[in-house]
Amino acid sequence: MKTPSFQSKFHRRAFLAGAAATTFTIVKPSLVCGSAANSAIALGMIGCGGRGNWIAKLFPANADYRWVACADYFQDRVDAFGSKNAVPADRRYTTLSCHKKLLESPVDAVVIESPPYFHPEHAAAAVEAGKHVFLAKPIAIDVPGCLSIAESGRKAASKNLVFLVDFQTRANELYREAARRVHAGDIGRIVCAESHYPWAGGTGGINGKTPEERMRYWHNTLEFCGDVIVEQDIHALDVATWFLHADPVAAVGRGGRTLRKVGNTWDHFSITYTFPNDVILTHSSIKMIPGCKDEIRCRVFGSDGMVGSDYYTEVWIRGRKPYEGGSVGNLYTTGAENNIVEFHRCITTRDYTNPTVAPSVRSNLTAVLGRMAAYSGKPVTWDEMLKTGEKLEPDLTGLKT
Ligand SMILES: NC(=O)c1ccc[n+]([C@@H]2O[C@H](COP(=O)([O-])OP(=O)(O)OC[C@H]3O[C@@H](n4cnc5c(N)ncnc54)[C@H](O)[C@@H]3O)[C@@H](O)[C@H]2O)c1
Repeated sequence: MKTPSFQSKFHRRAFLAGAAATTFTIVKPSLVCGSAANSAIALGMIGCGGRGNWIAKLFPANADYRWVACADYFQDRVDAFGSKNAVPADRRYTTLSCHKKLLESPVDAVVIESPPYFHPEHAAAAVEAGKHVFLAKPIAIDVPGCLSIAESGRKAASKNLVFLVDFQTRANELYREAARRVHAGDIGRIVCAESHYPWAGGTGGINGKTPEERMRYWHNTLEFCGDVIVEQDIHALDVATWFLHADPVAAVGRGGRTLRKVGNTWDHFSITYTFPNDVILTHSSIKMIPGCKDEIRCRVFGSDGMVGSDYYTEVWIRGRKPYEGGSVGNLYTTGAENNIVEFHRCITTRDYTNPTVAPSVRSNLTAVLGRMAAYSGKPVTWDEMLKTGEKLEPDLTGLKT
């Protein structure tokens, strides 16, 4: 088991970048966590599906963590997770209230990997219970959900809790350096930007006939996932709003579901956002294209140059002040690992600044704005979006509580 003092090279670089602003004293996890019996941070998993199972092994492999509890609506999911991660049978919780039971168990921190609709509720309950939170993107699917996460983030800071949102790009040093340089003016006055996310995936799922089936295949249901512009494109829009460093003013867009045969989500979006100073961001998204090579790209164009980034290949700046950047490698894994190490560092050094919350709220609201503009076929301003406060509610009738 590793501790933050012997991270691999990329971990250490990201760790130093993250910690650069302030110096924190490292204290034993047992002094900052509830479970003094063992110095490893005691974790509970909420949502034991694909991502939950995949990321679980990275926690003890990268820092001093141990799994002590798990929660999922479905019994088969908690049992599979529990067996793999040595969680005893009496700490495997099910039904819609599984997270509440898990929060009564001796966990120091929770990892939330449930469907996005539940993220605000799960995060708020965890903070209320005094647990540190490691949260998957997207943070929420609608405006009230985003505002709830913002509030949970504030509350976490006031209660000396760590709250980290797992965007892999934000944990990568090349992305960070490029963003620093863009913010320092290296590409000059920003004129416009583009983000896009073509993907071969998104083809699975069924037309769920019951609430339980729809929840199992939540990716196809708007009221669980927020549509692909929120659930998937958030990776691209998060980088765009990071580089642009502003809330959009308005959006106009179109899209549709030409290829998708199940559920009620769309398969393509084309959105034009305006930002302050007449900066334009064009965002395009297309899923389910056979043979399509995954790209999660963002480029920003300025009077002195341009920044280019792609989740799967590289980051660079070209122009008057170039930045060579480089290959991001396997960002899917290293980004998550960096966040896991950072989460441990924040807990053990009592760093409750929680810098990932505000930008995640901004980019998530940006995705919601794009969806509202495309669905309505009319321009929607940021202020109008905030005022409508539209809440999406899936049908949970008959689910076990
Ligand atoms: N690169 C990334 O950052 C990345 C990659 C994949 C998934 N994700 C995110 O991870 C989250 C989970 O995605 P996934 O692909 O693992 O989905 P999944 O369907 O495989 O897993 C979700 C699990 O949550 C369970 N669940 C449903 N309702 C629940 C409830 N009320 N309480 C507790 N558990 C509940 C489901 O039964 C399922 O086992 C999503 O937010 C997704 O966007 C992020």
